[in-house]
Amino acid sequence: MEKVIYDCDPGHDDAVALAIAIESKNIDLLAITTAAGNQLQERTFNNARSLLKLFKRTDIPVYKGAPKPLLRDLIIADYVHGKTGIDGTTLPSNEDIPKTTDSANDAMFNIISNSKEKITIVATGPLTNVAILLLSHPEIKSNIKQIVFMGGAAFGGNYTPNAEFNIYVDPEAAEIVMQSGIPVYMFGLDTTMKAQFYTKDIEDLDKAGYVSKKFADLLNFFKKSNTVPIFNEGEEEGIHMHDPCAMAFLDNPDIFKMYKLYVSIDRDAGQSLGMTVVDYNQTTGKEPNVHVSFGLKNELLIDLIKKSMFELDKEY
Ligand code: BDR
Ligand code: CA
Repeated sequence: MEKVIYDCDPGHDDAVALAIAIESKNIDLLAITTAAGNQLQERTFNNARSLLKLFKRTDIPVYKGAPKPLLRDLIIADYVHGKTGIDGTTLPSNEDIPKTTDSANDAMFNIISNSKEKITIVATGPLTNVAILLLSHPEIKSNIKQIVFMGGAAFGGNYTPNAEFNIYVDPEAAEIVMQSGIPVYMFGLDTTMKAQFYTKDIEDLDKAGYVSKKFADLLNFFKKSNTVPIFNEGEEEGIHMHDPCAMAFLDNPDIFKMYKLYVSIDRDAGQSLGMTVVDYNQTTGKEPNVHVSFGLKNELLIDLIKKSMFELDKEY
């Protein structure tokens, strides 16, 4: 069972990833830390707390991370996730859950340094909080088993033609993570645009219990911003389940096809800013530093998502 800290910016697809984490028999979710990304820090923090209320797991602590990227101004994705950061349904109020006072950085440091087992960090927002941890406490690197993140792409982007949103928001943080020397696993658009959840799957959720129905509403909102590649040959384009890929990897690594390659981040102003430069032809001669995912068995991911929701329904 993996001991996990989940750094996220919920976010519709972050919420699906969280549902997987809560229900997976292979994941022991110790804490959530929230990143500024899809929405402002205050909103992603609030959303994480409300999701735990929905899942009846308010025993899991949520810690607030940095309000902005390391060097740059914050860019948010309200054009995808809406005004609240998770539009499309009403989540339960979290006012009765006591607020933590530790920062995400202090909480991550305490959990990792006090743990007998190595900790896995799953990150599905900009990598700001993870980079701050590695910069401020380099001595705990040896107690981090792996960093599994959603972001980047070997080919293309979704925020610019070359950059994926999470990496574009904080490219300096991403570079710190890539060069950390810790085992890093990357779930970029090469995989996550193929991780598709179809209309019929949303309908299945809508016919199920309380939590599933909430997710059907959330996903119907999320669907509106789904990008459809021009080369989709007339087939239905399902919703891209970006963040669930990173979490599903811990539940069942066999879902994904991984290759270890050298990856660095373009931080120069210009049309490739925020690009994950993946040396897929191994032309640089540099030692591979990242396990990059290039594909998945989508039906296994869909089953895992639905199974997690149906389990959560049983709480009602
Ligand atoms: C990533 O950007 C966010 O909007 C999603 O939550 C996901 O983490 C996809 O590019
Ligand atoms: Ca996210």
